[in-house]
Formats: sequence, structure tokens, C-alpha cells
Amino acid sequence: MEVFDAIRTRRSIRKYKDKQVPWDNIVSIMQAGKYAPSAGNLQNWKFIVVKSDAKRKAIAKACIQQDWMETAPIHIIVVAEPEKAERYYGTRGARLYTIQGCAAAIQNMLISAHSLGLGACWIGAFDEDEIWRILNLPEEKSVQGIITIGYSDEHPEVPPKYRIEHMVFFEKWWGRLEPAKTHLGWWSVYNKRIVDESKKLAKKTGNKIKEHVKKKLKNK
Ligand SMILES: Cc1cc2nc3c(=O)[nH]c(=O)nc-3n(C[C@H](O)[C@H](O)[C@H](O)COP(=O)(O)O)c2cc1C
Repeated sequence: MEVFDAIRTRRSIRKYKDKQVPWDNIVSIMQAGKYAPSAGNLQNWKFIVVKSDAKRKAIAKACIQQDWMETAPIHIIVVAEPEKAERYYGTRGARLYTIQGCAAAIQNMLISAHSLGLGACWIGAFDEDEIWRILNLPEEKSVQGIITIGYSDEHPEVPPKYRIEHMVFFEKWWGRLEPAKTHLGWWSVYNKRIVDESKKLAKKTGNKIKEHVKKKLKNK
């Protein structure tokens, strides 16, 4: 799967099949997380894999009762080590850089799970104290997110996403000087794909018409 397609077609999955995920896939997903950028390459995160039924149940409960999480055979909890970033970058490291690095790792894991044919969901709503307790976390660590992983048992529609013109400014806030539609539209990967696919379809249809006409002429 091409990277852009994997990014575009990834969905948050909240219903999973009762089927185990091969360990190789879990490792590949965590490798993808490992390669995420981090400030000063500190990689101040740990990934905790949870498979046991009892713990997944407790985690789902601690995630404001998102019971559907129990259907995912794997939970990966992304735990940050803010004290490491604080040593180098002070408060900015402990807060901003740590959160951003973990978010990059989580996104890498979501994309790679999808590219492996698995479903995943990023969970940010949880009672941190509860997760701390369930996982025996040391005091200085902080829970950044939980990823549910498994084989998807649903095909969610693409949720509404803003058009790119609505989220891009040029040169300054509200800068609308560039003809956004032309520049962002026709040069975007998405539109290029649509044009390429339309060309292919037109060619296929043209060939079908040719064949049809040929057959008709032959029968005359
Ligand atoms: C920081 C963050 C926290 C999230 N927390 C939850 C959550 O607790 N439960 C949930 O079901 N989805 C959660 N999501 C997933 C979003 O609901 C989802 O990404 C959004 O609805 C768009 O859908 P999509 O991922 O299919 O594009 C979270 C996503 C992010 C980035």
C-alpha cells in the first residue's frame, strides 16, 4: 500500500473480530512507532503490550467505559518519560516535545497497522491514575495514549474532513492571496489520483466501445 493511500484510507476501528493478531505484526507496528521523530532523538517513550482479557477489560473501563475496546485482542499503551526530555529541554521538553514525540509514534503505529490489514484506534480518553495503577507505572511516567489493535469487524464511512483550501493560508493568518483552488487542487496527490483513475477508466471504456463496434460490423 502506498504511504498516501495508507494515510488516506486509515479509519478509527471500534469493532474487532475474535481473532488473534500474529506477534510479527505487533512487532512491526512497534518498530514503526520506534522510527518516529523525537526531539534530540531522545525516544523517551515505552510501549506496553497488553493481551490478557482481565487487563484489557480493566483498561476499557478506565477509558471512561469504552467497552468496545475489549473486543480488540491487543492494547498498546504509549507511556512517556517526560523526565528525560526535561533534563535537556526543561519544561518545553517535558510538556510539548514529549507529547509531540509520542503522538508521532502513535500515528506511525496506526498507519502501519492499517497497511498490514489490521484495524486500530487511538484512545485519548482515559483516567490516567487508573491506567497507572493497572500497569504499575512509576510516578514520573505519563500515559500518552492507548492503541487498540485487531482485525476490523466494521467498515466505517470516511468521517467528514474539511477541504484543504479551508485549512491553508499563505504567508500569514487568513492569507488568501494564492488562487488556492488551482494550486492546492490540481497539484494535490488526491486530485492527481482522481485524474489518473479517470484517464484509465476512459481508456477502458474506449476499448470496450471499439470492441463492441468491431463485433457489430463483423456480424453485418
Ligand atoms: C488525541 C486523540 C484522542 C482520541 N481519543 C479517542 C477515544 O478516546 N475514543 C475513540 O473512540 N476515538 C478516539 N480518537 C479517534 C478519533 O475519534 C478519530 O480519529 C476521529 O473521529 C476521526 O476519525 P478517523 O480516525 O477514522 O479519521 C482520538 C483521536 C485522537 C487524535
